[in-house]
Amino acid sequence: MTIHSRISGTGSFLPERIVTNAELAKTVDTSDEWIVERTGIRQRHIAAEGETTANIAHQAALRALDAAAVSIADIDLVVLATATPDNTFPSTATKVQSLLGMTHGAAFDIQAVCSGFVYALAIADNFIKAGQAERVLVIGAETFSRILDWEDRTTCVLFGDGGGAVVLEKSEKEGILSTHLHSDGRYGNLLYVDGGPSTTQSVGHLRMSGPEVFRHAVVNLASVVDESLAANNYQRSDIDWLVPHQANLRILTGTARKLGLAQDRVVVTVDRHANTSAASIPLALDEAVRDGRIQEGQLVLMEAMGGGFTWGAALVRW
Ligand code: COA
Repeated sequence: MTIHSRISGTGSFLPERIVTNAELAKTVDTSDEWIVERTGIRQRHIAAEGETTANIAHQAALRALDAAAVSIADIDLVVLATATPDNTFPSTATKVQSLLGMTHGAAFDIQAVCSGFVYALAIADNFIKAGQAERVLVIGAETFSRILDWEDRTTCVLFGDGGGAVVLEKSEKEGILSTHLHSDGRYGNLLYVDGGPSTTQSVGHLRMSGPEVFRHAVVNLASVVDESLAANNYQRSDIDWLVPHQANLRILTGTARKLGLAQDRVVVTVDRHANTSAASIPLALDEAVRDGRIQEGQLVLMEAMGGGFTWGAALVRW
């Protein structure tokens, strides 16, 4: 029997506090018009003092477990994607494991910035297909508000905090059809954090050459989408739902146009969540599953691009 892996439950969590563009315009030289026109972002959620990536991940995980109707005893692996861990170590995944009361199995973080969830899903899928795990909690969670330079209008308006999770389990039925991961470290200086334990011994702030990242994103995303379709003998017209990483509405609409996909087939949350990095895909996925847009049997394509550069896609039969 071929071993498949399937998503059996999704969950997400957003911090309570919402910060609108108008509120940001009080502290940096920006405007609601500029942000909406250039990015489609209208607001973002920001973690409360003391509310950490692990707390957010924990809440998202509880909701995914509930949706999958499984208990923590049934999970044998936790893979958590984040670029904003609670601490340098231990991993945020082990903190979440402890918050969930899980003392068996294994838990680790992975770091691919905004592509983190696709990377984590690929890892979990491979663990299951290799027979090393049966049920994996895959989480993307971030508190980017903690690494933003709140005086830099070119970056601070773009990001938000949040988390999403899925339960991925061994199945006889097809689910994850394939995953495709890429990276090219030559572009590390276009999107990075200017600190870290081994360089500055500080956390640092996010720095980005926005227009250059934009240009690479459009090309890399279109190519990885085509790669995942070709690997499964599908056409662009076979896609029922595109669940993309949510960085900029112009990137989302541009990708949909390139694919010949109607805009209403793209799950969009960037207007309300901004860019939540590794959390953006599972947040969007959870929304579209819970409101009934994504239905059993449909073809769902997730794609992302982030610092590194890293980029990737996952094609899923729901
Ligand atoms: N409010 C007002 N003006 C702003 C601003 C803000 N928040 N941020 C930048 N500007 C100004 C710039 O200073 C520049 O002014 P100038 O022409 O006087 O120099 C002008 O707006 C245009 O800036 P530019 O950076 O060329 O705008 P853009 O249309 O490329 O939009 C981004 C900027 C960041 C929104 C866009 O490049 C982008 O989304 N890039 C991809 C980012 C991304 O996806 N990152 C995450 C990948 S995971």
